[in-house]
Amino acid sequence: MKALVLSGGAGTRLRPITHTSAKQLVPVANKAVLFYGLESIADAGITEVGLVVGDTAEEIQEAVGDGSKFGLEITYIPQERPLGLAHAVLIARDFLGDDDFVMYLGDNFIVGGITGLVEEFRTSRPDAQILLTHVADPRAFGVAELGPAGQVIGLEEKPERPKSDLALVGVYLFTPAVHEAVRAIAPSWRGELEITHAIQHLLDSGADVRSTVIHGYWKDTGNVVDMLEVNRTVLETMERRIDGEVDEASETVGRVVVERGARVIGSRIVGPVVIGSGTVVTDSYVGPFTSVAENCRIKDSELEFSIVLRDSSIDGVGRIENSLIGRHVEVTPAPSVPSAHRLVLGDHSTVQIHT
Ligand code: DAU
Repeated sequence: MKALVLSGGAGTRLRPITHTSAKQLVPVANKAVLFYGLESIADAGITEVGLVVGDTAEEIQEAVGDGSKFGLEITYIPQERPLGLAHAVLIARDFLGDDDFVMYLGDNFIVGGITGLVEEFRTSRPDAQILLTHVADPRAFGVAELGPAGQVIGLEEKPERPKSDLALVGVYLFTPAVHEAVRAIAPSWRGELEITHAIQHLLDSGADVRSTVIHGYWKDTGNVVDMLEVNRTVLETMERRIDGEVDEASETVGRVVVERGARVIGSRIVGPVVIGSGTVVTDSYVGPFTSVAENCRIKDSELEFSIVLRDSSIDGVGRIENSLIGRHVEVTPAPSVPSAHRLVLGDHSTVQIHT
């Protein structure tokens, strides 16, 4: 069995926070979303991975390399334009050969991995297997309609009037039967070859398409509340590990990860918290559900339930909560006169000032 991982698509510079142009590299607990997917694939015993890349190929390639750090053999499959998920299957035909495969969307996050699903598929081997999850607004997803016995009756891509709240999750298991289906369909209204339509084509031709409803799913929509929440979920599963330096005047409580090369000086860290390598925390408090990425400076400040991306500095500003702070950001006190806030904010920023 092989894996086809989709990390193509256009760059997304207009997110609320421009931490990366490849949405698959958005960090959760200091690790790219894509990496969790690649690890899940390796855990499921799959080693041959085709990685579809587009505009952001260079950034993805730099992060993933040849895949050996995940125990994977990666073959890069360049996609000239984001012409659809089914188009990605079309161009991966040579790589996939006649093997069964799992197709994994690189911007999807599945809590608990895919090992059980892959085993179930290997054992029962239907023509295709899809994953579904209940969502608040199904209009942003592919949506499945199930029959009384739970069988898949029909699928629609981003319907205006969804027939259920069951969204298609971005992990699909296929036998080679899908190749005929992706060749048979036409582009959708958005000009893409939709995998949803290819699976509908399989259904229409009498194929056995099964579904599993999962819980613990996240996809980056640029929503900060959701991002803090998935960060919290992942931090809760981490084991305590202090590889960096913590001085005697500091205290670390509970699930705290201090990466090699990080330093904690005169500070109190209450987990779950991860402090990235090269980061220095001085005379500060870092409280639960906080991820501080690499090469940050946290000084004379308090931080809780927040994400700080790399190369940022927070110095002498009191308490920060519920916040997402991008890369190369500086948060400092203003000079005493004039008494005013001084802001340099990127596009789509949100600031809430405590007065
Ligand atoms: O995330 C789940 C949803 O993914 C499903 O519910 C939908 O049925 C499915 O169509 C897909 O919808 P999106 O519109 O959210 O997909 P998006 O364009 O964001 O692409 C998903 C991933 O695949 C993303 O990592 C980029 C990559 N991609 C996308 C396209 C269109 C490619 O590599 N090549 C492409 O041509």
